[in-house]
Amino acid sequence: AMPVAPDLPETLDEAHQAALHCRRCGLCEAATRTVFGEGNPRARLMVVGEQPGDQEDLQGRVFVGPAGQLLRSVMAEAGVEPENLWLTNAVKHFKFAPRGKQRLHQNPNRGEIEACRWWLGLELAFVKPRLTLAMGRSAAFALTGDDAPLTARRGRIESGLHEGEVLITWHPSAILRQPDPLRAAQMRAELTEDLARALQLSD
Ligand code: URA
Repeated sequence: AMPVAPDLPETLDEAHQAALHCRRCGLCEAATRTVFGEGNPRARLMVVGEQPGDQEDLQGRVFVGPAGQLLRSVMAEAGVEPENLWLTNAVKHFKFAPRGKQRLHQNPNRGEIEACRWWLGLELAFVKPRLTLAMGRSAAFALTGDDAPLTARRGRIESGLHEGEVLITWHPSAILRQPDPLRAAQMRAELTEDLARALQLSD
């Protein structure tokens, strides 16, 4: 038989379909399903999180859990309409540690983020956004190759591994985890500011 060349998806839909069967790293074993990006396939702005959480894994949709609720209300304040952007994650499977009936979020490691960059790269190649907003360290690493902590980078524009620039901002979960309410409020305001700026820069 003729050797079969690995298929290179030719459209965003083909990439989505192929990602549903991804075995590029071990995270597919325990996760329920692939959670691919969604939104406007011709968006000028792409927003990238870390990975699906518990709710996203169960529902198969990005940002539908607690972090998603925060993100969606901050987007509304910033005037960003989710249907006008491409919303996705650096990693497409939920990584967790079982604790009784609970599944506790675990950060993806560099190898998992690098393996999943294949899919993020296809999303970037097909959507061709003018600007990408990286929320949190995992997204910032996936998009820039720089794994440095976020504190000194938030609000900065960095050059991407792909075409175009990357604005770095907080991940909404970091705001939810922040124990100091004053600091949490400040981070929320900064995320809103960064979303509004991303919208302007991509327009
Ligand atoms: N956190 C993320 O980074 N992405 C989601 O889709 C949900 C929570």
